[in-house]
Amino acid sequence: MKLKHKVSIIAAATVMGLSFGTISKAQGVTVWDGVYTKAQAERGQKLYQDHCSACHGTQMQGIEEAPTLKQGAFVYNWDSLGVDILFQRIRDTMPLDDPKGVSRKMKADILAYIMSQNNFPAGTKELPYQNSQLKRITWHALKPEE
Ligand code: HEC
Repeated sequence: MKLKHKVSIIAAATVMGLSFGTISKAQGVTVWDGVYTKAQAERGQKLYQDHCSACHGTQMQGIEEAPTLKQGAFVYNWDSLGVDILFQRIRDTMPLDDPKGVSRKMKADILAYIMSQNNFPAGTKELPYQNSQLKRITWHALKPEE
C-alpha cells in the first residue's frame, strides 16, 4: 500500500514534468530567435537618428529625462512580456513631442534597431508591425538556456 502510494506520486511528478516541458515549448519565439533582419535594423538606425536621438541620444545612452534604450534597466523593464507591449508603448507615446509623426511600419524598423543595440541577433524575417504577430514574440533580457 505504501509503495503503491509512492509510485503514484512519482507518476504524477512525471506527468507534471512533461506538461511543464510542453508549456515552455508553447511559449515559442523569443527575441533571441532572430526576429528582425539586418537591413531592417539599418533602416531603423536612420529613422532612430531622425526621430528619437534628440532625446535618447545618438548612442541610445539617454539624456536627462529620456532614459537609455539599451542594456541595463531598459532591457529588464520589458522582460518576459510580449514585444507588442513595448511596441504599443512606442506607438502611443513616442516620439514624446509627436507620437503620430512616425508610422507604425517605421516604428517596427526602429524597434528592430533597438533590438540590434541590445545584442538580440538578426534573422531572415522582418519584425512585423501588427500587434497580433508581435505578441507571439517574447522579450527576454537574458538568453534563455537551451
Ligand atoms: C522629445 C523627447 C523624446 C523623443 C523625441 C523620444 N522620446 Fe522616448 N522618451 C522620452 C522621455 C522623457 C521618456 C521617459 C518618460 C516617459 O516615458 O514619458 C521616454 C521613454 C521612452 C521609452 C521607455 C523606456 C523604458 O525605460 O522603458 C521608450 C521605449 C522610448 N522612449 C522610445 C522612443 C523611441 C523609439 C523614439 C523615437 C521614435 C523616442 N522614444 C523619441 C523622450 C523622448
